[in-house]
Amino acid sequence: MFDMGVGRMALLDASADMLCVAREKFAVEIKANKVSAIAQTSLPKIPFDDGTFDAVLLNTVLHHLPSGSGRNFFHAVETLKEARRVLQPDGVIAITLLLDTSSTNAWFLNLSPEILDKICSVSPSAEEWNKMVFAAGLKCLLKTNLHGFGLLGDEDYIEYNNIFKQEWRNSIVMFEHTTKEEIEHVSQKVKSLHMKGEIKGWIKDHDKTQQFGFISLFLCQ
Ligand SMILES: C[S@@+](CC[C@H](N)C(=O)[O-])C[C@H]1O[C@@H](n2cnc3c(N)ncnc32)[C@H](O)[C@@H]1O
Repeated sequence: MFDMGVGRMALLDASADMLCVAREKFAVEIKANKVSAIAQTSLPKIPFDDGTFDAVLLNTVLHHLPSGSGRNFFHAVETLKEARRVLQPDGVIAITLLLDTSSTNAWFLNLSPEILDKICSVSPSAEEWNKMVFAAGLKCLLKTNLHGFGLLGDEDYIEYNNIFKQEWRNSIVMFEHTTKEEIEHVSQKVKSLHMKGEIKGWIKDHDKTQQFGFISLFLCQ
C-alpha cells in the first residue's frame, strides 16, 4: 500500500474495465471517502468544472489518443487544454508519455521493424511534444526519462504465449495500423523463444529501457 499524498481525487478513463481495475487498486481510498468521482469518459473532454483540482495526472494516456491528420496530435493538445482548465491557477499537470525515440528501447516493440515503424509514426517526437505543450498554453517545469519498465518481466501483462493479444491491442491505438500477419509473425517468434527457454535472454539482450528509459515524465503548468 502506498500513501497517495492527496486529499481527494477523481479517476477517469474511457474503459469500464480499466475503471474496475482502478476501483480495486483504490479500494482503501474509496472506503476512506478520498475518491470524489469515478468517471467513464472519453478525452479530450474532462467532465469537471474550471479550477476543480490542484493537480492532474495523465498517466500513459496521451500517446493512446489518435495522432490526428498530419500528426497534429489534436486530441492530446485538447486534453492538455482541458487539464489546464480544470486546474487551480497554480496547479500542476504531471504527464507520463511514450515519445517515438523511446519506443526503440523496449524489447517487445523491437520484435518487428514494421511494427516499430508504425508505432513510432503515431507517437510524438520530443520536438513535436514541445510544440504540443506550447499549443496548449502550458510551460514545462521538468522533463525526465523514467528508467526501467516494471511491466517487462510481468507475464500477467505480456504473455509470452500470446503476445500482443487481441484484447490488449484493442485498447492500444498505436497498434491499429499493424497487420494480422505482422502480429502473427511476432507472436510465433516470441512463442518459439519462450518454448526454447530463450525468452529471458532475448529480452536481456534487446531491452534498453534500463539504460535509456521508456516512458518520459513531464511536469507542466
Ligand atoms: C496504458 S493505459 C493507462 C491507464 C491508467 N492511466 C494507468 O495509469 O494505469 C492507457 C489508458 O488510456 C485509456 N484511453 C485511451 N483512449 C482514451 C480516451 N480517449 N479517453 C480516456 N481514456 C482513454 C485506455 O482506456 C487505457 O486505460
